[in-house]
Amino acid sequence: MNGVTVVSHPLVQHKLTQMRKETTSTAGFRKLLREISLLLCYEVTSELPMTNEQISTPLEKMDSPILAGKKMVFASVLRAGNGLLDGMLDLVPSARVAHVGLYRDHETLEAIEYYFKAPESLDERLVIVVDPMLATANSAIMAVDKLKQHGATNLRFVCLLAAPEGVKNFTMAHPDVPIVTAAIDSHLNELGYIVPGLGDAGDRMYGTK
Ligand code: PRP
Ligand code: URA
Repeated sequence: MNGVTVVSHPLVQHKLTQMRKETTSTAGFRKLLREISLLLCYEVTSELPMTNEQISTPLEKMDSPILAGKKMVFASVLRAGNGLLDGMLDLVPSARVAHVGLYRDHETLEAIEYYFKAPESLDERLVIVVDPMLATANSAIMAVDKLKQHGATNLRFVCLLAAPEGVKNFTMAHPDVPIVTAAIDSHLNELGYIVPGLGDAGDRMYGTK
C-alpha cells in the first residue's frame, strides 16, 4: 500500500454525502462516521500479513489463515479521531489504542499538543492513525512525528476528507505513511477549512461550536 487511496465504494460515498449536509443532526453525523469507519478499516487492513494456524473443524484438521504479528494499534487524534476509532475497534477488537491530543490554533493553524499516551512496543506493531480531517496536515504530521519518536516505523493514516494541500504536505513530511481517505476535496479556504468539506468535524460530532 503506497501513496494515497481514495475509497470510492458506493456505500462510503453515499454516507459521506449525508455527512456533508448541513442539516444532518449531531446523532446522525456520529452514526454515519461510525458506519464509514468500518468500511475505511476494511480498506486500510486489506494487505495485512497473514500466517496459518492449525485448527480442527467438526470434520477435520486444517491450516487456516489468521493475522500475523503483534496486535495492531489504532492511534486516535483527539477529539474527532474518536469518531473513527469506535467502529474500527468493532472490527478489530483486540487492537491496542494510542491517544494523541492535538488542537489547531485557529489563528496560526499550527497543531498544539495536549496529551499523548501509547502502548508499548510501537516498533513491532502496525500503527493506524485515525482523524476524519486532513486539512493543512499540521495535526497529522505532528501525530505521526510523535508516534515515530516513540518507536513506530510501520504506519498508515486514515481520514474521511482530505484537502489537496494536506495530502501534499503530509506526503512530503512522511512519504513512508500511506493515506486512506473517502475523498479529496477542492481546496482549503482562508480559515484553513476544507471546501466544500463538511465543516468542523469535532463540533459536528459533539455538538460544540
Ligand atoms: C480538526 C481535525 C484534525 C485537524 C485537521 O481537529 O480533527 O485533527 O482539525 O486540521 P489540520 O490538518 O489543518 O491540522 P481540531 O483541531 O479542530 O480539534 P478537535 O478534533 O478537538 O475538534
Ligand atoms: N478541521 C475540521 O474539522 N474541518 C476542516 O474543514 C478543517 C479542519
